[in-house]
Amino acid sequence: MSDKVIKIGIAGMGAIGSAVARALIEGIEGYALTHASDLSPPPLESLLPPPSHSSTTMPPQFNYVKFNDLAKACDLIIEALPPTAVPALTDEVFSHGKDLILISSCALLMFPEILTHPRRKNSRIIVPSGALIGLDGVSSLAQMGIKSARIASTKPPRGLAGAPHITAQNINLESITQKTMLFSGNALEAAKAFPANVNVAATLSLAGIGPENTQVEVWADPEAVGNSHKIEVIGEFSRMTARVENTPDPANPKSSMLAAQSIISILKKMSAPLVVL
Ligand SMILES: NC(=O)c1ccc[n+]([C@@H]2O[C@H](COP(=O)([O-])OP(=O)(O)OC[C@H]3O[C@@H](n4cnc5c(N)ncnc54)[C@H](O)[C@@H]3O)[C@@H](O)[C@H]2O)c1
Repeated sequence: MSDKVIKIGIAGMGAIGSAVARALIEGIEGYALTHASDLSPPPLESLLPPPSHSSTTMPPQFNYVKFNDLAKACDLIIEALPPTAVPALTDEVFSHGKDLILISSCALLMFPEILTHPRRKNSRIIVPSGALIGLDGVSSLAQMGIKSARIASTKPPRGLAGAPHITAQNINLESITQKTMLFSGNALEAAKAFPANVNVAATLSLAGIGPENTQVEVWADPEAVGNSHKIEVIGEFSRMTARVENTPDPANPKSSMLAAQSIISILKKMSAPLVVL
């Protein structure tokens, strides 16, 4: 640990980026939000913590810049972009040798060249648990060998709108009247079919036995209130089942409130004297 304040840059100030920005503006010891990037930045007032939480009434002090200046100016970059915008960001982050907290884990499956980027010498990529639980156990089990890993994600139909698989298969989400499986395949195929919806599957695959061997089901359920995920991971010495039900983020129903909190939790762990992982 050091006394140096780590300068944070957030790329993507939508539902997740804004929630992390609010927490930083409210105050996380050891960090300062200095820069952000967004094609259409949210109004500054929306980033102010509620008066009951805040010790300051000062407007937030940070600059909106392009990815290049964000990577140059900041010590640590937080990615909260659509997955297709991630390679342009990682190019700049790697060129400046900075570390990256990356929430759009589907991007690592869609654009595998990110991980083998020739300029990625000094940059660590940290993938948060996001909307998923149980990754601590999966990582431990991976040390001894995992035989199989499955995840089933269930969402209200409207949360899947706009996904390439829905468009390609001409699926009418409004006509779904009962819980229906819309996709079954491996995590690599799932990331291409539902890039904004299966980050949890991508993250599970990266923590476990890889995208090709991780089985994914995507279900639409008109009765579902939120997004739920069930994982089943089997190894030689343990069988794991974990299930989480998340409230959708009101700012983006495809995302869950838990995802932004997982980034905030990582920031706190990175500077804490006691860490439980
Ligand atoms: N790992 C997980 O469990 C998990 C959970 C939820 C969401 N996610 C992912 O996190 C990412 C962010 O989610 P969100 O809900 O905040 O999305 P969002 O749509 O609310 O926000 C994305 C923001 O990025 C901005 N943007 C788009 N293209 C840009 C570009 N080229 N340059 C700069 N800014 C750009 C948009 O203006 C928007 O403000 C998504 O990829 C989502 O799929 C991951």
